[in-house]
Amino acid sequence: MATNRTLTILKPDCVRKNHVGDVIAHIQKAGFKIVAMKMTRLTAATAGGFYEVHKERPFYGELCAFMSSGPCVPMILEKENAVADFRKLIGATDPAEAAEGTIRKLYADSKGENIIHGSDSDENAAIESAYFFAKSEEVANLA
Ligand code: TYD
Repeated sequence: MATNRTLTILKPDCVRKNHVGDVIAHIQKAGFKIVAMKMTRLTAATAGGFYEVHKERPFYGELCAFMSSGPCVPMILEKENAVADFRKLIGATDPAEAAEGTIRKLYADSKGENIIHGSDSDENAAIESAYFFAKSEEVANLA
């Protein structure tokens, strides 16, 4: 099951620019099913915990400030080969380097404010999903 799930966050810039609907439509057209979804707002501390792997990087402070600057929309998504296929769908971290037609190429402004997150491994997908959702919130009927 874990191999078929990934965790995404529509970041605060996505919400601010009113692209939530566009991005969800793009994701669904690519065949991903939404297993869980909510709108929430991270604090600098919870954003810092989510991105703890980057805590020694020079962009960490700005990243935490940005991720806590407004509401965001985390979702658990399901599809065969979800992690790799979703990374392909969103494109490179820097939208300037992202392939044509990818979500970041279409909607993101910069490397720091790049509209969307996608887990980079099955293990992290499970950890990140638990960061946002209780098991009881994984409510979609996927039968
Ligand atoms: P990373 O995990 O490397 O990228 P991705 O989101 O594509 O998996 O980095 C996490 C976030 O940190 C990234 O989405 C935006 C921010 N970031 C910067 O602001 N500057 C940078 O140079 C990098 C590498 C990331």
